[in-house]
Amino acid sequence: MSKAGRLVVLVSGSGTNLQALLDASADPAYGACVVAVGADRDGIEGLARAERAQVPTFVEKLRDHPSRAVWDEALAARIAEYKPDLVVSAGFMKILGAPTLEAYPVLNTHPALLPSFPGAHGVRDALAHGVKVTGCTVMLADAGVDTGPIVAQETVKVLDGDDEATLHERIKTVERELLVDIVGRMAREGWAVNGRTVIIGGARD
Ligand code: GRF
Repeated sequence: MSKAGRLVVLVSGSGTNLQALLDASADPAYGACVVAVGADRDGIEGLARAERAQVPTFVEKLRDHPSRAVWDEALAARIAEYKPDLVVSAGFMKILGAPTLEAYPVLNTHPALLPSFPGAHGVRDALAHGVKVTGCTVMLADAGVDTGPIVAQETVKVLDGDDEATLHERIKTVERELLVDIVGRMAREGWAVNGRTVIIGGARD
């Protein structure tokens, strides 16, 4: 049974999921705290949110390294400085490599109901397919693209006239609440993985 008090959050964009975690962790009763925020690019709102919250940040850009493998090692080394219990990939638009995945549990969030519509365009792909219900998935990351064990899912209805932006915004509202709820419960209650089944709670200290 693992617990998840210290969080390193990885971002690539606007960081609204990060903000929700920062806001939640302001309350000690939440049980988890964002100890650092990492990114694969600079100049993004996600990093600005961390700076405003006085949380340390780091940036590792793929193009600053001679290969993906070297970048993977560099990113894992930056994460390690903060000794996280859990890494949260919250809109981080890179697949994490073995150095990070083997060192820490990594929680990922995706704006579709996996295993449907994995990848970078989950909202667009679900709309293009004509689904009437979509949603979001919080899962543990593995080496694949959105293939890890599912921790939690919530549904969102597709409305007539939705485009990618309107649908993604409604999904993100639900996604933020789900992510905050799951991270807090993992931290407070502990969690375990049995095959593809993730169980939260039942921890014995
Ligand atoms: C989220 O919907 C996430 O699932 C997707 O990109 C969005 C990131 O939003 N991969 P934000 O940066 O947390 O605002």
